Amino acid sequence: MIQLTKVNKVYEVADGDFYALRDINLLIKRKEYVGILGTSGSGKSTLMHIIGLLDRPSNGKVIISGQDTGRLKDADISKLRGDYIGFVFQQFNLIQKLTVLENVLLPTQYAKEKLEFNPHDYAMELLRKFAISEKAESYPNKLSGGQQQRVAIARALVMKPEIILADEPTGNLDTATGEEILKLLGTLNRDLGVTVVIVTHDQYVAKKTDRQIFVRDGMIVKKY
Ligand SMILES: Nc1ncnc2c1ncn2[C@@H]1O[C@H](COP(=O)(O)OP(=O)(O)OP(=O)(O)O)[C@@H](O)[C@H]1O
Ligand SMILES: [Mg+2]
Repeated sequence: MIQLTKVNKVYEVADGDFYALRDINLLIKRKEYVGILGTSGSGKSTLMHIIGLLDRPSNGKVIISGQDTGRLKDADISKLRGDYIGFVFQQFNLIQKLTVLENVLLPTQYAKEKLEFNPHDYAMELLRKFAISEKAESYPNKLSGGQQQRVAIARALVMKPEIILADEPTGNLDTATGEEILKLLGTLNRDLGVTVVIVTHDQYVAKKTDRQIFVRDGMIVKKY
């Protein structure tokens, strides 16, 4: 569960305070498939970074999986993020010097405690599920955009997170490949029960999710 109450993100700029987010109240329940929709500069990524515990709000409350994160130290925030949240980005963000399998395994190497599953076997299972296991030993630059994004999704899933946050996951893909990726994210939601939040400026992409949240000028609006 993701719950934001009266969240503000304020930046000091030359001519005063700039509210990238203003009075955000938001509840995303477990196992929801949600789209966050807004034009460029509306505050989508800022919101995603706060939900994903990559950034803290200027004020307000952020509860992730029952934990009031404002009370947590940075080290505990990192652990919560590592255990509960997986990220998918527009640019895939794979490490070029690592093989596909090594990329997928990377989050498991930061795990503070011993995992209850075999990371290698689970990573291979995910790659098989996404039909890219034959690329396990290849390097990312040998893969198509859609394949790279599937690797990135496998990496996001390898710690068995409760939540997947995807920022413009189809932004660098052609329409057909983008549809495949959206279908895949939908499958994760339905079959694995992962809460999936997709951030996008594209109405068509957002329509694939079960519920859309509209952001405008740092605020959540009913429609836009
Ligand atoms: N560090 C910062 N200092 C000042 N302003 C910032 C900072 N980071 C973001 N902003 C501003 O906050 C607003 C929201 O930015 P954000 O990146 O969340 O937009 P976005 O909806 O993700 O846009 P896009 O669709 O282009 O990715 C923008 O006006 C941006 O310029
Ligand atoms: Mg953005």
